[in-house]
Amino acid sequence: MKKIVTILGARPQFIKGAVLSREISKFNDVEEVIVHTGQHYDANMSAVFFDEMKIPQPKYNLAINGLNHGAMTGQMLEKIEAILVDEKPDAVVVFGDTNSTLAGALAAKKLHIKIVHVEAGLRSFNMKMPEEVNRIVTDRISDLLICPTQKAIENLQLEGFSSFDVAIENHGDIMKDAMDFYSVLAKDKSTIFKKTSINKDNFLLATIHRQENTDDRNKLSDIFKSLDAINEFTQVVMPLHPRTKKKLSEYNIDTTITLIDPVGYFDMIMLLTHCKLVATDSGGLQKEAFFNQKHCIIVREETEWIELVNNNFAQLTGPNSDKILDAFHDLNQKKSNFNTNLYGDNVGEKIYTSIKQLIQ
Ligand code: UD1
Ligand code: UDP
Repeated sequence: MKKIVTILGARPQFIKGAVLSREISKFNDVEEVIVHTGQHYDANMSAVFFDEMKIPQPKYNLAINGLNHGAMTGQMLEKIEAILVDEKPDAVVVFGDTNSTLAGALAAKKLHIKIVHVEAGLRSFNMKMPEEVNRIVTDRISDLLICPTQKAIENLQLEGFSSFDVAIENHGDIMKDAMDFYSVLAKDKSTIFKKTSINKDNFLLATIHRQENTDDRNKLSDIFKSLDAINEFTQVVMPLHPRTKKKLSEYNIDTTITLIDPVGYFDMIMLLTHCKLVATDSGGLQKEAFFNQKHCIIVREETEWIELVNNNFAQLTGPNSDKILDAFHDLNQKKSNFNTNLYGDNVGEKIYTSIKQLIQ
């Protein structure tokens, strides 16, 4: 039987990986070996997703986390290489743009193992973002680039990828499949409104964790200043990412908003279902707002998911409190027809078929 090694490490990768693992389990014609780099490790950042989404247990957990970029990526590279030498897979699958993605791709490339990059071709055009570096390098060394949007394909074409020896395909966004499948289960399984004092159907759901927002005292203060102001009109609820928690404490930033611990995917889906609006710097959450027919304030200067902005479902504000407040007042009133398909359907099945073709 053909074998793939899937590299997971950070929260969004568990959600994306769950979709692929579910496809593989339907057919059982390819062996999947999961490597968890350990980049995210708290129970509510990792184990909860494996439990809820029934992701197969990783065969390897490298427990590499909490390090600077070089040390984290370097240690992952070394350990993944050793695993690939033992496992001899037909391909390595990496998702998104984290340090785990880059390490997995580099390790595979040096061993001449085929690389599949799921969520290829996205660009912010901001080379200061670690994610932009990770995704550009990963794209360049991959063999199969699975793009989520037409814009991602265009980005690759503009960078000359048409002349490289690489397959480029657009199958839609794998997170759309995750939302379609798990939202049916979430209704029964989530307990979020029982265990918290959230004003169901009358709150703004916020998440902030991007390095460029959290690691700058002024930017983070400005973001929380605007969230505190919104909180006077509409309750603001934020599942707090560990990076942001550390920085709020380091910078002594106080807030009046409702902070909760990171939640599992079922609770997150119910928060998305019952919020009025979303404010986030997350890549995944801005699309999930759209999947749930919610407008989104994107607390960044640019987005890889530009179709959300071009279709007026979302507004870019950067970490600027005046712009965040303006966007809140604008989007809070706004009615939109979300009945347009930006991100495809049955994406997991299409991706799995492509991977099988690659390793035939
Ligand atoms: C990483 C990704 C980012 C992605 C995000 C998803 C990179 C460069 N960044 O950022 O692209 O959007 O994941 O959430 O790969 N921590 C804990 N517990 C955990 C996880 C992290 O305390 O379970 C702490 C770490 O020790 C570290 C900080 O949070 O101090 C940041 O973690 P790290 O994995 O370096 O980056 P993220 O900000 O999570
Ligand atoms: N998410 C979650 N619980 C939380 C916060 C986020 O399940 O407390 C989910 C969210 O719904 C989305 C994914 O995590 O599916 C996004 O991950 P994150 O924002 O950490 O990373 P990014 O998408 O920015 O890389």
